[in-house]
Amino acid sequence: MDYIIDVEDLRKVYSGNIEALKGINLKIRKGEIYGFLGPNGAGKTTTVKILTTIIKPTSGTAYISGYHIIKNQKEVRKIIGLVPQDLTVDDDLTGMENLVLQSSFYNIKREEARKKAIDLLELVDLKDAADRLVSTYSGGMRKRLDLIVGLIHDPDILFLDEPTLGLDVQTRTRMWEYIELLRKEFDKTIFITTHYLEEAEKLCDRIGIIDHGKIVVEGSPDELKSSVDFDLVELDVDNLQEAMKILVNFDAETRENKIIIKIRDSEKNVLPILKTLTDKSINIKRIHIEKPSLNSVFLKYTGREMREGESEEDIMKTMRAIRRAR
Ligand SMILES: Nc1ncnc2c1ncn2[C@@H]1O[C@H](COP(=O)(O)OP(=O)(O)OP(=O)(O)O)[C@@H](O)[C@H]1O
Ligand SMILES: [Mg+2]
Repeated sequence: MDYIIDVEDLRKVYSGNIEALKGINLKIRKGEIYGFLGPNGAGKTTTVKILTTIIKPTSGTAYISGYHIIKNQKEVRKIIGLVPQDLTVDDDLTGMENLVLQSSFYNIKREEARKKAIDLLELVDLKDAADRLVSTYSGGMRKRLDLIVGLIHDPDILFLDEPTLGLDVQTRTRMWEYIELLRKEFDKTIFITTHYLEEAEKLCDRIGIIDHGKIVVEGSPDELKSSVDFDLVELDVDNLQEAMKILVNFDAETRENKIIIKIRDSEKNVLPILKTLTDKSINIKRIHIEKPSLNSVFLKYTGREMREGESEEDIMKTMRAIRRAR
């Protein structure tokens, strides 16, 4: 089987002896959307920079469409597009000028570049803003422009480093739609890094979780979730210390002034826990139950949480159940 991205034992040690990558292996097929997930400093950007030939690895090999990232750097650069983590578009140019400037780096003729630029601007609903200075764009508009700047030379593979970081939920959803469209309509292979678990779950065919420079687990969102056999119960209580003493026989720990308990079949098993606490006069202020999710996958394999907002509905459901049980 040939892979469009084929990485073996990639390592990167930055000066100061900082080991950013400790042996990464990746095999990604054409047309896949691969999500690279991990906390701050895990090594995501370092991986992207190496695979897009911006920096060199300390050791290991990587092939992009069969081209070696160092020996065939030129060929690699032609078939990849990069949307880096930091915004790259020039504020003092218009959207169109940014695209035409970018095409000049690829020796695309001006006329052809303008044509291509119009198509791309249309794709991300920026056509009406094409001749406005980027300094007048909103954050979401800039990110969309960033996305198409990475596409101007029609690459086969697009590397997106945190393309939705800091965007509001609505704008993020729109970005996902564009990214999905790129795969569906234009047959692109997409390598995307993100902090947003929900994003990875919706968008990606496969996910690799990286932590401290190592991929700790890899699989489809469903495969990863089914590897977790516990639910997470999170409690906000008035007396944390006292509550923890009462929960000594449970798999409970504290995090950011909350209690996190891992239990199986929370539908059945959460009520006795809550009752134990309320019987001892512990006031429970808030409850959140999470079925196996990428957050619990992350917790299982890294020992840490990586979570976003929670469902109000779950909380209300549990509160109603407690009231009934009293
Ligand atoms: N140029 C550099 N010199 C020295 N250390 C670096 C350099 N770039 C990154 N690092 C370190 O390498 C590690 C991995 O960084 P990297 O930027 O790849 O992480 P990341 O997963 O992209 O994080 P984030 O989610 O914050 O973007 C971190 O410890 C970081 O401090
Ligand atoms: Mg990064």
